[in-house]
Amino acid sequence: MLVLGIESSCDETGVALYRSCADGGGTLLAHALHSQVAMHEAYGGVVPELASRDHIRRISPLLRKALDDSGCALAEIGAVAYTQGPGLAGALLVGAAFAEALAAALGVPTVPLHHLEGHLLSPLLSRTPPRFPFVALLVSGGHTQLMRVDGVGRYSLLGETLDDAAGEAFDKTAKLLGLGYPGGPALAALAVEGRADVFKLPRPMLHSGDFDFSFSGLKTAVLTRVRELGGAVALSEQQRADLAHAFQAAIVEVLVKKSAAALRAAGLRQLVVAGGVGANRELRRQLDERAARGRFAVFYPEFEFCTDNGAMIALAGALRLQAGSEAKVAGSFAVRPRW
Ligand code: KG4
Ligand code: ZN
Repeated sequence: MLVLGIESSCDETGVALYRSCADGGGTLLAHALHSQVAMHEAYGGVVPELASRDHIRRISPLLRKALDDSGCALAEIGAVAYTQGPGLAGALLVGAAFAEALAAALGVPTVPLHHLEGHLLSPLLSRTPPRFPFVALLVSGGHTQLMRVDGVGRYSLLGETLDDAAGEAFDKTAKLLGLGYPGGPALAALAVEGRADVFKLPRPMLHSGDFDFSFSGLKTAVLTRVRELGGAVALSEQQRADLAHAFQAAIVEVLVKKSAAALRAAGLRQLVVAGGVGANRELRRQLDERAARGRFAVFYPEFEFCTDNGAMIALAGALRLQAGSEAKVAGSFAVRPRW
């Protein structure tokens, strides 16, 4: 079956076509993506109204491109999967309305999905995918969770952030240091120039004995250092880099140690890392190092599937259908911004 996937929960419009086979396998045939990052940059963050309008402009041409790239015809689509939430209400409505209308016109069912399920399953798109069961570390702009994944739709939450998400902490700290949007990649790039052990920052909840996280105090600790040094404008380039380095070291250490502890507690040897922060090279380096010592394997989505994209939604939709989930009759729908 040919499954169309549509992602529009935030500032990326993603469209993809995935061909699933009766034996449970499948192939990603095409995926097309438009990032709005350049458009929101001037505002220092995502402007919801602009995001919705841009999704409307992009979604149809992206579908055309995916069809052309795959050599498939519109009439071959057998189901339409899309992100139902969480995310920006207006942005979600664009993808949901497009998906439901198209599916209704084609006479095929829809599969409304949780955005994080897409991230969670995205490493299955890589050439050497993990096998169930595994532990997943989900680190995005809106979520930080450790999950036990026993199969498609069989997820149990082991722990999560009590305040800021990891990506949010990266973004807010980047802003404190006067870096542009999106802050995560900018801060990571600056951290490379920073020196270790110049600034000491806390490792929040490292020894809490559970799998929860808290990152807002870390951001506040950076703010305190910045103030002590006379404010962001007074910082030298080296000081900013040293602070970025210290922040990244703290957050990465907590993520790595808690992930390893969750694996041990679950008695599993495969860790999947998904979500935008999964693109962070220092996180990958330290996880790989820890994995070599702890005899577990770490699986990452391809770099292009770490941040939001349509491919993970097409895949998750196809897997849901293969696993016997009921598809929805196309037509009426609701989005779930705070799901
Ligand atoms: O998964 P994602 O694309 O969107 C959400 O669903 O939130 O994640 C975006 C988040 C942002 O906070 C961004 O700053 C962060 O992922 N991010 C990074 C890196 N690349 C993206 N954070 C740290 N290092 C990176 N290289
Ligand atoms: Zn995401």
